[in-house]
Amino acid sequence: MGRAKITIVGAGNVGATCAHWCAAAELGDIVLLDVPQTEKMPMGKALDLMQSSPIVGFDANITGATDYGPSAGSDVVVITAGIARKPGMSRDDLLSTNAKIVTAVSEQVKATSPNAVVIVVSNPLDAMVQRAFQVTGFAPGKVIGQAGVLDTARYRTFLAMELGVSVEDVSALLMGGHGDTMVPMPSCTSVGGIPIRRLLSEEKLNAIVDRARNGGAEIVALLKTGSAYYAPAAATAQMVEAIVRDKKRLIPCAAYCDKEYGVGGYYVGVPCILGAKGVEKIVELELDSQEQAAFANSVTAVKSLVKTMGELMAKAA
Ligand code: NAI
Ligand code: 2OP
Repeated sequence: MGRAKITIVGAGNVGATCAHWCAAAELGDIVLLDVPQTEKMPMGKALDLMQSSPIVGFDANITGATDYGPSAGSDVVVITAGIARKPGMSRDDLLSTNAKIVTAVSEQVKATSPNAVVIVVSNPLDAMVQRAFQVTGFAPGKVIGQAGVLDTARYRTFLAMELGVSVEDVSALLMGGHGDTMVPMPSCTSVGGIPIRRLLSEEKLNAIVDRARNGGAEIVALLKTGSAYYAPAAATAQMVEAIVRDKKRLIPCAAYCDKEYGVGGYYVGVPCILGAKGVEKIVELELDSQEQAAFANSVTAVKSLVKTMGELMAKAA
């Protein structure tokens, strides 16, 4: 059996770092792709990463590209193309520029890798993944957004810091959109099997949830020149791994929900089983009234973002 072929579109901070994590984990051969205006930058990053292989000890071909020829027939395509958030800019400010970029990328992916599972990372995530789904016309489970693994990782990190325990023992879930309305799920958070509410006061828990919710903005304020990329790239690589190794991971992803949770045809963060076919199952939990209200609020925000994107696309056409 040959190696999986993984294309990463956008060779910037998230894309190149994702290539790094994927290569180090020997997930497959990688094509790192960017626009021609970046000249040979993706080729330079690919060659540099490839030269780390004897040191790190991985076998993978890593190719840089500025057209889709080398990426044809990919098993997984990760879309990180777009502009990143700068200080003072919300994720939603990126909407119009990135919608055009994700449209152009999705057309190319459809033409060159028609059987791929697509993972969208570009922001605003919940709208960009919907756009990639619309343009590729791929089965809903084969177009997935990365947000929940990252947001949950931030939450888990802050919980481990507060409790002074290993991050490995913190298991948690966040649902909803990748934005200010994301939905923490303390009822699905445990440490070493102990429900979180037996370890932390509601006040401490709320403070941690708030920090996770603002996790992206906290990093933007520190970096000043761009947004987070190590954790976002690691989160994306975990999703790539679940697909190429058919791991059936149960992780939160932005998945297409129609009847599921009564969403009605939008991408929102929900617990999913992720394997070779993409999202193989959406796990439907019974939500308590607080979670239900927060989830409904988040779905409303996602719908309004998608509506605005549709209006902007129509105006530009
Ligand atoms: P970056 O600016 O470092 O890299 C973006 C790359 O995309 C650039 O190299 C640019 O040349 C390239 N690009 C632009 N148009 C393209 C096209 N049509 N085809 C191919 N490549 C194209 O930005 P960074 O930090 O890598 O972020 C990328 C995107 O991911 C941003 O939209 C950012 O907001 C988003 N993001 C999403 C996260 C999530 O959790 N979903 C987390 C972190 C970032
Ligand atoms: C983040 O959450 C910018 O969406 C990106 O870091």
